[in-house]
Amino acid sequence: MRQQIGGVAFGPLTFNDESFAIALARNAFAAWSRDPGRTIAAMLRQRGLIAEIAKTGDERLGFFVVSTRRLGRPFGPLEDPVTAHLDAIAVVPRAMGRGVGATLLERAEERARAQGAVVMSLTTAIGNKRAQRLFARRGFLRTIKSPSAYANDEDAYELFKPL
Ligand SMILES: CC(C)(COP(=O)(O)OP(=O)(O)OC[C@H]1O[C@@H](n2cnc3c(N)ncnc32)[C@H](O)[C@@H]1OP(=O)(O)O)[C@@H](O)C(=O)NCCC(=O)NCCS
Repeated sequence: MRQQIGGVAFGPLTFNDESFAIALARNAFAAWSRDPGRTIAAMLRQRGLIAEIAKTGDERLGFFVVSTRRLGRPFGPLEDPVTAHLDAIAVVPRAMGRGVGATLLERAEERARAQGAVVMSLTTAIGNKRAQRLFARRGFLRTIKSPSAYANDEDAYELFKPL
């Protein structure tokens, strides 16, 4: 088994990290998106996102992007809950399988919770076994299957987790 990468630190994904995030997205999401670099670039221009980079020393290991919004109506006992959506998560290929994805996800959840979010949702391709396993291990539950959710016509699972 490969050793876990320790000493992972987080910082905001700034303008200086954008080319890293775009290059990683091109590689990481190539199977499911026609132009993943462009999609991420557009995503990062949105306001109010939580976007962070994981690093060890000066080496960038990956990033996540979370958006939050108020539901705008009561849900059960909650007056107007804040919901979070994991828009993107990716790890550089050389660091995969060493716990960085789990650390990124834990941080994304913490940041969303700190903004008042009570639930996190995400969409992931049913054939993306590595991602499915990561999300299942961290307590995400499958809800519905979305047919042909991606450019390659693959179905997706909609997942959610109470925070
Ligand atoms: C999904 C992703 C973020 C996971 O990051 P990671 O750093 O590899 O994740 P971790 O090391 O924390 O491990 C995640 C789980 O996948 C497992 N895994 C690692 N390599 C694997 C492989 N080749 N095939 C299947 N599972 C694998 C790990 O064993 C671990 O599960 P376990 O702890 O139950 O054994 C990363 O693989 C990635 O960037 N993928 C491309 C982008 C993507 O698919 N993003 C998610 C879209 S919603």
